[in-house]
Amino acid sequence: MPLNKGVCLLAAVLFIVKGEGKVLPDIRLPKSIVPEHYFVGIVPDIHQNNNAIEGFVHLDFFVQTPTDRIVMHAVNLTLIEDSVSVNLLPSKTMEMMRENDVSKTSSSGLSEKLKMLKVLRPISYDADKEFAVIHLGSKLEENQRYRVSFNYSGMLARNLKGFYGSEYLDKKSETKRWLGVTQFEPTSARLAFPCLDEPAMKATFTISIGRRSNYTSLSNMPLVKTEPMSNKEGWFWDLYEKSVPMSTYLVACLVSEFAFLRIWARSEAIEQADRAVQVTSDMLEFLEQYFQVPFPLPKVDLVGLPDFSSGAMENWGLITYRETTLLVNPKSAAVRDEMNVERVIAHELAHQWFGNLVTMAWWNDLWLNEGFATYVQRLVLDNVSPKYQYGSLQALDFLSVMDADGLESSHAISVDVAHPTQITEIFDAISYTKGAAIIRMMNDFLGEATFREGVKNYLNEKKYQNARQDELWQFLSEQAHQDSVLPLSLDVKTIMDTWTLQMGFPLVTVQRNYTDGNAYIQQKRFLRGVKPAIVKENKSSSLTNFVEEKNSRLPNYRWWVPVSFTDSVAQNFSQSNTRPAIWLTPNELSATKFIGKNEDSWVIANILATGYYRVNYDERNWKLLGLQLKTDHQVIHPINRAYLIDDSFALAAAEILPYTTAFSLIEYLPEENHHVPWSSALRALNYIGRMFSYTKDHGRYKDFMRSLVVPVYTRLGTEFQSDDSPLTKLFRISMITQACSQEFRPCIRNAQLLFDEWMDSPDPIHTIKIIPDLRSSTYCTAIKYGGQLEWDFAWGMSFNMTSAQDRDVILSALGCSRDPWILIRYLSFVLDPKSGIRKQDGRRVISAVASNPGGRRIAFQFMLKHFEEMFSYFGNPVRVLQMLSSTTSSLNTQEELVKVR
Ligand SMILES: *[C@@H]1O[C@H](CO)[C@@H](O)[C@H](O)[C@H]1NC(C)=O
Ligand SMILES: *[C@@H]1O[C@H](CO)[C@@H](O)[C@H](O)[C@H]1NC(C)=O
Ligand SMILES: *[C@@H]1O[C@H](CO)[C@@H](O)[C@H](O)[C@H]1NC(C)=O
Ligand SMILES: *[C@@H]1O[C@H](CO)[C@@H](O)[C@H](O)[C@H]1NC(C)=O
Ligand SMILES: *[C@@H]1O[C@H](CO)[C@@H](O)[C@H](O)[C@H]1NC(C)=O
Ligand SMILES: *[C@@H]1O[C@H](CO)[C@@H](O)[C@H](O)[C@H]1NC(C)=O
Ligand SMILES: *[C@@H]1O[C@H](CO)[C@@H](O)[C@H](O)[C@H]1NC(C)=O
Ligand SMILES: [Zn+2]
Repeated sequence: MPLNKGVCLLAAVLFIVKGEGKVLPDIRLPKSIVPEHYFVGIVPDIHQNNNAIEGFVHLDFFVQTPTDRIVMHAVNLTLIEDSVSVNLLPSKTMEMMRENDVSKTSSSGLSEKLKMLKVLRPISYDADKEFAVIHLGSKLEENQRYRVSFNYSGMLARNLKGFYGSEYLDKKSETKRWLGVTQFEPTSARLAFPCLDEPAMKATFTISIGRRSNYTSLSNMPLVKTEPMSNKEGWFWDLYEKSVPMSTYLVACLVSEFAFLRIWARSEAIEQADRAVQVTSDMLEFLEQYFQVPFPLPKVDLVGLPDFSSGAMENWGLITYRETTLLVNPKSAAVRDEMNVERVIAHELAHQWFGNLVTMAWWNDLWLNEGFATYVQRLVLDNVSPKYQYGSLQALDFLSVMDADGLESSHAISVDVAHPTQITEIFDAISYTKGAAIIRMMNDFLGEATFREGVKNYLNEKKYQNARQDELWQFLSEQAHQDSVLPLSLDVKTIMDTWTLQMGFPLVTVQRNYTDGNAYIQQKRFLRGVKPAIVKENKSSSLTNFVEEKNSRLPNYRWWVPVSFTDSVAQNFSQSNTRPAIWLTPNELSATKFIGKNEDSWVIANILATGYYRVNYDERNWKLLGLQLKTDHQVIHPINRAYLIDDSFALAAAEILPYTTAFSLIEYLPEENHHVPWSSALRALNYIGRMFSYTKDHGRYKDFMRSLVVPVYTRLGTEFQSDDSPLTKLFRISMITQACSQEFRPCIRNAQLLFDEWMDSPDPIHTIKIIPDLRSSTYCTAIKYGGQLEWDFAWGMSFNMTSAQDRDVILSALGCSRDPWILIRYLSFVLDPKSGIRKQDGRRVISAVASNPGGRRIAFQFMLKHFEEMFSYFGNPVRVLQMLSSTTSSLNTQEELVKVR
């Protein structure tokens, strides 16, 4: 059966990638030498895909323990044996020599003055550890400084890592163009130049980039000067200023014919009116004020790239983006794209402090970088662009990460990683989103002022250095004690360790006694009851037994849980009321709080959902909450409405609460006019819909959904108003999408009408009347209810869209077809470089097909059949696995359904 085969394969592959069962080699660098300054020259030949890299490195380093080896990271790079030299540096003249270096592009003249060490040949390479090792004839002495110099050669990479080449079509001249750019995080600097490629090995960098005359280059720092290369006709050296101390993964270079956006920090007038430029400078200003630490570089360049593996990369002073995350056409951008651009810019700018200025000591604390940037992006947006109400949208992200974190297979935020594959793997929702959620929780239990002061001190004390999470806790504890926010006997580490070193999160149960007015409050770990399909299928198989056995051996996780309350009398959902009224602790699992005897008054815990946990109540309290929603839902804050709905469905799925309770809570939905609670409900209902999708009852599900959605659809209408807030727009889009996908005829007819009009228009490339926000749902509906004609038209148009967002929308909509052969043909384009599907879009195509109920199995079969090809084509196993899991995420057994019915 394909299902089982798939799940086994998935398990097997995860097993390999996680490296479980096999001992991974110790791939850390020896700590004997510490880099201080790199003088790097790189000459990437990108023109017409020539693909060669040449370069040189002068690395000044300090010796901590005597050694006769210099161990550096290098992948697919060859050191030119004859060029390697190692010299003792007289420490006093160090600074002077570095200054001299800036005006020179080779080591000529320097080496004669210095004591030279004997270098043993050959240089050795360790492919597993990704090392290049220079062996010396004598020992490097402790506390001395040396310089190692060499030339090297290599190849430009092709899979969007290291220094990679990329080609694109220039629309104006209709000619091919080439560019070369770096993506180093986490462990790919070693693909571009030999270096000590660990985040704690900070050093200063003087970068030189060699390029042909027709190209321009950029790096982290401003250009000092350009001079012709003496040995290469038509080539130039661009020499850049010396950087501040930073980690190798933040070094960046670009060679291209691009225009770029440059923001000179603290410059008075910004002439370009570009939205990204305006927003960036506003955000930089906000961040400087928020952290009370000035931005340390003289400029920031923002570059949008056609081929880029992640959304963006926070290279210090040279931030690289996917085109879609940087460039928006203000006239034709959908709200979500516009907001996404600002969100990503805010995130990358937050990293300039959190990550770049103070860096995690090792990748196990990656969450410190990513969680903080994700948390701070909300602060930035809520202050610079409050119209998006981004804070309440982020609350929905926290709900999604709870789904993943409620599984037994989750992982702790702070996790031991060694191998580059493991490091790549932890760039996930747990690090980013859960990280942000618990930082927000901390902000609220400490209070904004204490939190901010503690963070400011941390950044100032640790700048240009590395830090572990414990050091951040230390600064926050000191501030909390000084402000009397926490008792002296309790520190931040004690609290936060329960959130970062353990996976999962608690379920807080509030059990009221209506006779004496007390509530009995306790915690236990929340686990989603849903087990993988394969396990559920055979109750008597040994696999089931294994899982159940394992369950009973689960560690007894307990947390420090801050709990805030309000009730139907106070109705106090203000930010200031989110401070904890009580703490549940690992030792005191339960607490009692006097709530009041009123049998008709509800209580809500976790105001504004600032705590990262779920809440369950006694049956009567759930009834009172349902009643309140039906009579006047606006009494309860939208975020808490969203969480009540999500908690109740999650508890029902875990068999803790009857589904009838959850469904009675959403009876009021036809009256709900807020995007956030509705989104939360749709998440839960779509999950249930996926379970019904291959059953005879699917029609009943659609009837039910229409009964909720159509009244709102009708009330909101399909016309956008000029004074709509972004949230209202998002809400209308979501209702139209639902109405069409639940087969509400007027919605389908409307979409077909709009699409036909577009197809029939004389100049479809330049006149799309369908407003950007509605394109996604309109295209999808028209393609779903259309045939080859509609599909081929959209496919052709996907190549003629000037905006990258428009192209993405079409690529996703192309997966909506109901014709199997069309879907199969679409999938086949993923592995065909000539089809026009860019590598970075492969995942979009697969998940477009997989999220179509009729395409899910087709996508899954395709992944199984072409698994090995996918690995070699995409290069990044984690990305391929993400594609695979997008095809399996909704394979469910009938058994789960029984609970819902
Ligand atoms: C190194 O080069 C080989 C051969 O060209 C290639 O297969 C491999 O993917 C490269 N390694 C990396 C990490 O790019
Ligand atoms: C190393 O590279 C520099 C500049 O690129 C060049 O001048 C020098 O001759 C090279 N040295 C060797 C030994 O190849
Ligand atoms: C560089 O630009 C010039 C003038 O624009 C052009 O004639 C020449 O062919 C270009 N060379 C390359 C290598 O693109
Ligand atoms: C509620 O409190 C009263 C008074 O303390 C007690 O007698 C009763 O047993 C409690 N009920 C429950 C269900 O715990
Ligand atoms: C369930 O597993 C047991 C033990 O592996 C096996 O004997 C039995 O045939 C299986 N039942 C089904 C329905 O596959
Ligand atoms: C809400 O609670 C906070 C803190 O408990 C209090 O300062 C504030 O006055 C309350 N607001 C209202 C409207 O009761
Ligand atoms: C879009 O561009 C492609 C070539 O890139 C062309 O073949 C196609 O005909 C164009 N489609 C339309 C609708 O103009
Ligand atoms: Zn980030």
